[in-house]
Amino acid sequence: MAEPRNVCVAHRGWSGRAPENTLAAVKLAMEEPDVFWIEIDVQLSKDHIPVVIHDYKLRRTTNGKGDVRNWTAAELGALDAGSWFSPLFKDEGVPTLDQVLALTAGRCNVNIELKTNGIRYPALEELVLASVRRFGMENEVVLTSFYAGALNKLFKLSEGRIRTGLIIDSWRQTLPLELSQTGSTFLSIDYSRLNKERMKLLKEAGIQVMAWTINEERAIRKIAELDRELMICTNFPNRWRQAMAGL
Ligand code: G3P
Ligand code: CA
Repeated sequence: MAEPRNVCVAHRGWSGRAPENTLAAVKLAMEEPDVFWIEIDVQLSKDHIPVVIHDYKLRRTTNGKGDVRNWTAAELGALDAGSWFSPLFKDEGVPTLDQVLALTAGRCNVNIELKTNGIRYPALEELVLASVRRFGMENEVVLTSFYAGALNKLFKLSEGRIRTGLIIDSWRQTLPLELSQTGSTFLSIDYSRLNKERMKLLKEAGIQVMAWTINEERAIRKIAELDRELMICTNFPNRWRQAMAGL
């Protein structure tokens, strides 16, 4: 039987069907038989606990105000992080990373994006690594960041034992070199920057590539045709499934 192609990564959980980065979105993604990966965004609370939320500010996705870093994990967990999406999800709070990993450990791989620039959350790398180890998920995660400094730090802290990856939204021919300098073997790239030639270059350098965030069935199919090993990050795993059926 042929290997399953173009692995699906549920972006911020199944964020097309439930509020992004909530336990509801994670659970929905995990219930889908062909989804073995989810992507989540991580920051730190005021009491230095990794929490799962995309924006630095609370306003867009919760009923809280101001910065994530000024609220404790318990306060963030008690916010309404679901009503903006639908009243059906009014009881969803901002989860901790540990709450998500407790659900996924041994069942689903997780791409944890560290939302850091090296200044805002100086200890984020250590704390995320501690969570991953607590749940024995060293081989079930890839830790990614736009900030290469975080990858260098993770490489040192884990002695190269945890997979890391750079996130980029612009193309550079030097990417294979940049990745090897951070000890990374994974690239998370804005899908509009990919083409067949670039995919070939990355593959020949031994880099696993994930394209984000592709939400239309036709676009998913088109990008999947570049290479069957290209991972596809989408808010709509159902559209990924439809696209794959045509390949
Ligand atoms: O990790 C890929 C993608 O999620 C990066 O963009 O803004 O959705 O976190 P963003
Ligand atoms: Ca992300």
